[in-house]
Amino acid sequence: MHDQIQSGEAFEQVRTILLQEWDPIGVQDAQGPPNEYDGYAEEILAMLSTREMTTEEIAAHLLQMAADHMALQRTPALRTLCTHAAEHMMRTSLKHGYRETSGFSSADAKSDDRIRQFIAANLPVLPVPGIAGIRLHRAGPQSGLRRLAERDPQFGSPYWAHYWGGGLVLARYLFDRPESVAGRRVLDLGAGSGIVGIAAAKVGAAEVYAADIDPYAIAAIELNTALNGVTVNATVADLTQGEPPEVDAICVGDLFYEATLAEKVTAFLDRCLAQGIAILIGDPWRAHLPKSRLRLLAEYAVPDFGEDTTRTRPAGVFAFA
Ligand SMILES: C[S@@+](CC[C@H](N)C(=O)[O-])C[C@H]1O[C@@H](n2cnc3c(N)ncnc32)[C@H](O)[C@@H]1O
Repeated sequence: MHDQIQSGEAFEQVRTILLQEWDPIGVQDAQGPPNEYDGYAEEILAMLSTREMTTEEIAAHLLQMAADHMALQRTPALRTLCTHAAEHMMRTSLKHGYRETSGFSSADAKSDDRIRQFIAANLPVLPVPGIAGIRLHRAGPQSGLRRLAERDPQFGSPYWAHYWGGGLVLARYLFDRPESVAGRRVLDLGAGSGIVGIAAAKVGAAEVYAADIDPYAIAAIELNTALNGVTVNATVADLTQGEPPEVDAICVGDLFYEATLAEKVTAFLDRCLAQGIAILIGDPWRAHLPKSRLRLLAEYAVPDFGEDTTRTRPAGVFAFA
């Protein structure tokens, strides 16, 4: 699936960051040639695609280019500029999945191990309300996720540390209606903790894939799948940017919580639908749910993200049509 990421698009993203956020000689302001930084963008893209490369190394490379090619002093302000641009590039590369996602290096294994160890030690294994067949590592007040955040500038919102209302309702539906995925190749898009993919695997899906833009989600999915005795192939990637994946069904748990994301996901699902892929969505009626495109299949009352498990709200399972 990683091959589906378009390198042209990745190049444009890096180039835009260079022009809009780095640009130490003001090419943009002086309306300089738009291709001024193209050579640098190529070099940085190659660096970003290598999993071992750190944000600090990319910042150092930017600084060196500014000093050597533009004769600029290595001032604290220039260093900050380079660090911010490098951080943004690293976040973008993870979000859009153009970091290598296969062939784990030893450096990777180490960092993944640390994340897994943290989750295993600090996020207790808890039952999932209404689903007797699944248990998940879930963050609580004592989990200290801030400690993870403090040591990693790439740490985003820890959506993977909880199940969400949309994923929960869809997982419950799959247990009630196993025929919707049994024997099929299923993708859990925006998998978070992996709750939906785990449910699909439990009820007999032939193969299950999970995709999320957050590498922490992948660590959580690995632990949660092992805990539940199922196999799910998890990948860090934004598949919404590419061609429809080779699956029979896509399950989407709670991915309509932001307007831009909802638009992007809807356009991707449209392309998948055109290829004959069945699409199931679970959602607690969030604001950006594309309601006009959905057919309600079932409704359950479920607790949502971070809520007391005794408090529930209605959530639906829909076919995207
Ligand atoms: C609200 S959480 C839902 C998680 C899980 N499906 C559930 O219902 O419990 C949304 C998840 O989607 C991920 N996400 C956001 N944009 C994405 C994208 N373009 N592609 C894949 N995952 C994405 C986030 O990192 C997050 O883990």
